[in-house]
Amino acid sequence: MAPKLIDGKAIARASLEETRLATDRLKARELTPGLAVVLVGDDPASRAYVRSKDRTCRELGFYSEKFELSADTPQGELLALVRSLNANPSIHGILVQSPPPAHIDEAAVIDAIDPRKDVDGFHALNVARLAMDDPRGFVPCTPLGCVRLLEASGIPTGGKNVVILGRSMIVGKPLALLLMRKGAGGDATVTVAHSRTRDLPEVTRRADILIAAIGRAEYVRAEHVREGAVVIDVGINRVGDPASEKGYRLVGDVAFGEVAPRCSAITPVPGGVGPMTIAMLMANTLKACRQLHNLPED
Ligand code: GUN
Repeated sequence: MAPKLIDGKAIARASLEETRLATDRLKARELTPGLAVVLVGDDPASRAYVRSKDRTCRELGFYSEKFELSADTPQGELLALVRSLNANPSIHGILVQSPPPAHIDEAAVIDAIDPRKDVDGFHALNVARLAMDDPRGFVPCTPLGCVRLLEASGIPTGGKNVVILGRSMIVGKPLALLLMRKGAGGDATVTVAHSRTRDLPEVTRRADILIAAIGRAEYVRAEHVREGAVVIDVGINRVGDPASEKGYRLVGDVAFGEVAPRCSAITPVPGGVGPMTIAMLMANTLKACRQLHNLPED
């Protein structure tokens, strides 16, 4: 049977529409959510993401500031920018695109962000709040997007074996915490596998839901996937393609062509998790704006 294709674009659109309506209500009270996005360096993929975040802000009626700093920006200058954004009352969310150039101490930059404006959910206080199930915290956007995709697609996680491939601070670790929480969208039995896991195909084949976030193009093959599993592909990798106009095409961490026929449902790349990440960033920025102004959720 053909697998169900999980339409991340449509699910993200619905979430963005909710955020836009809530933004209109805030604006009627003279409050506009504001997001600052900071990019250091000229990595083409990061630049494309940052522009897409800025564009979505404008579509929703957010206030948006975009900073594109040169690759040799000193650490002190970046920290000074973060501090000025912390103090700027028009800005409710701050995102510094990861990874920064090698000379930047990313941990120090994350630590400098006011945790109340940390819409990426990377600050230690927000990591702790996720681990402690404290709803005031910010959950990283990509993991939150994965869980929302499953929920919106009617795929329950309770009691399921979920295998996450990848242990990053941005995706794997927070996703494990989210999926093992009590209640809707959680209650899963979670395994975190990674590049050093022994007998990986044997581990990933135990998954009812396999989430690939290892950052390697088409790494997950048919042998990794049990017949009937759900596969969520977090990867966005550029691979050279002389036949395409841009000279490259985007592929996920999953070899879609050979894996899809085994699945009950799968996300495409592009058009799966990617659009959800941006939608969750907007939802987090709205939440930050409300919390900073002591407004309850409506
Ligand atoms: N790089 C890849 N994903 C992300 C993200 O969600 N936030 C930031 N800041 N950088 C990223």
